[in-house]
Amino acid sequence: MIKIGVDYYPEQWNKKEWERDANLMQQTGVRVVRLAEFAWSKLVPEEGVYDFDWLDRIIEIFEERNMELVLCTPTNCPPLWFYEKYPETIQIGRDGQPIALGIRGHRCYNNKVFRQYAQDIIEKMTLRYGHKTSVIAWQIDNEVESNFCCCKSCSDAFQEWLKAKHHTIEAVNEAYGNNVWSGEYSDWSQIKPPFGSYPLGWYNPGYMLDFHRYAAESIAEYVDFQASIIRKNIPHAMITTNTWMCEHIPDYHKLFKNLDFVSYDNYPTTSIPEDSEAYYSHAFHLDLMRGIKQKNFWIMEQLSGTPGCWMPMQATPRPGMIKGYSLQAIARGADTVIHFRWRTAVSGAEMFWHGVIDHSNVEGRRWSEFKDLCDTVNELNEVEESQITNQCAMIYTYEQDCSLRIQPQTEGFHYYNQMKAIHHGLTSLGVGVDIVSEEVELEKYKVVILPTVYIVNPKFVQKVYDFAKNGGIVILTNRSGVKDQNNNCIMEQLPTVYRDLTGCVVEEYDAIGFKKVRVQDKNGIIYEGKQWCDILLPINAEVLATYMDFFYSGKAAITYNKYHKGGAYYIGTVGNKALYRSLLKDALEQGGINYFENLPETVELSVRKTDKVNYIFLFNNSQNKQKFIFMEQTIEMEPFGMYIHKAIKG
Ligand code: GAL
Repeated sequence: MIKIGVDYYPEQWNKKEWERDANLMQQTGVRVVRLAEFAWSKLVPEEGVYDFDWLDRIIEIFEERNMELVLCTPTNCPPLWFYEKYPETIQIGRDGQPIALGIRGHRCYNNKVFRQYAQDIIEKMTLRYGHKTSVIAWQIDNEVESNFCCCKSCSDAFQEWLKAKHHTIEAVNEAYGNNVWSGEYSDWSQIKPPFGSYPLGWYNPGYMLDFHRYAAESIAEYVDFQASIIRKNIPHAMITTNTWMCEHIPDYHKLFKNLDFVSYDNYPTTSIPEDSEAYYSHAFHLDLMRGIKQKNFWIMEQLSGTPGCWMPMQATPRPGMIKGYSLQAIARGADTVIHFRWRTAVSGAEMFWHGVIDHSNVEGRRWSEFKDLCDTVNELNEVEESQITNQCAMIYTYEQDCSLRIQPQTEGFHYYNQMKAIHHGLTSLGVGVDIVSEEVELEKYKVVILPTVYIVNPKFVQKVYDFAKNGGIVILTNRSGVKDQNNNCIMEQLPTVYRDLTGCVVEEYDAIGFKKVRVQDKNGIIYEGKQWCDILLPINAEVLATYMDFFYSGKAAITYNKYHKGGAYYIGTVGNKALYRSLLKDALEQGGINYFENLPETVELSVRKTDKVNYIFLFNNSQNKQKFIFMEQTIEMEPFGMYIHKAIKG
């Protein structure tokens, strides 16, 4: 069953509110409630003093109303008495100082004392509540990020990680090319996390990429540490952690490797820009989340009200957004959507990040829409058993992402933004895509898109060649084949390892940043390129489009090369939506994938499937009504409306 839930903070409310809140939730149609991710100080008010009575009571209140629960380990926020007693557990920032206490998330994951106390509270909670059938899932901590702590424990852990990987200090020097600028290490103790206020891009790129790798493994290890305690006490537990698009992104694939399901905190924008090129739907993030484990996922926090607090308040969700964005997540593979939060806080730093219900505690417009969402979803019984399968994949890797953040290639270029633009092209054609890692089995797809495969992974390169050889269609973009595994440049003509596949080389490149370039295809249609221009020299490849500006006017910008039974496109610039749309149509046709030419620009199609039924979701991701013909039927949609069509398979 697909379920709607809410995040609830009983510790922030007077006990008198609890039953009233639970009654109203029940009447609203809420099925799941998430509790306790920040409640450590209420559970352990003093060293050795535990208070579970309040949590027992609130759990009982929800159980009496047949509501299900997600319990969280409260390790994001150790109590202040703990930090006072064990100041060495506070994270050290890049300035070498302990980070200021007062907000949240100050603990160092690697500190042994912290781990000991974390283990204690997790043991207590799991032993107390593990037998409860009402507890359907456990959330570890809250929005953990890659570990950038610079404390002694973390420095030591980083050195150990390096020793295990490189074995000798000479090998580290060789890998990072430390002969540049007299950078050779003579002892492991000289290798520390990246201290200092200057940009991370000023460090040696080989060192920085290794640091990111270590940081991501470190946080995944912390999550696994918690998961193993939960599992020891509750072998059948369903365990997750909630992630988001944070500054120090984790390696999502490693973070969730040993967990049961992915959950994501989904806050789509409430202010849609006029310029449709500038706007992109959260469908991309949802596809990325589904791709991590290649199965359905949860939303642990979903937009419910005006965002604020960390910045000035933004527009309140327009009518239709609360219901529509939640259903959009379901359409893209979410099986449970928990809304942040039931009632808006009246105190604390986040008092203006609004929930379903305002400070007034009166059921208003957003609550009514949320109730309507619950009513709709509580009728969707069969949809949960369904999965999403696509014939098109796009490869995302943590390594490319980090390495392009470490050394931004040109002004305005961002790995994600290029992926989003390509994804937008696919969405406009009603084509579903799985955003997956290099570990994926390529053979189950017909078209595979490789946006900026900058760091070369030889095993993956072989997979790509085999895929194309056997008939697969590959789309590569600019800045591919640039670096080896040590984040050093490869001394060969670009796209280096992909040269035979693409049948072309890059003669020279131009990082045009915020300038625009015109690109003309074989039919004379002119598109806009930006940020980057690879000036291509075809060897075997056919030229599909040429540049019209700068000293390389007339030279190839986009090529296609037939490779055995398949083939490869190479796009030398960063295109606009129209460019990707046109090129994708060619690639999809070659791959034998159907697309919808005439969907309105803002309508997103996705399909959840069972053996017998296809549930076709059409989501109007805009503030305007839409009327169009789809499968010989006239469809009229309200702003942010969702139309679900059940097609029985013949
Ligand atoms: C999330 C976080 C929540 C809350 C929310 C709104 O990132 O997990 O605790 O802060 O954002 O800001």
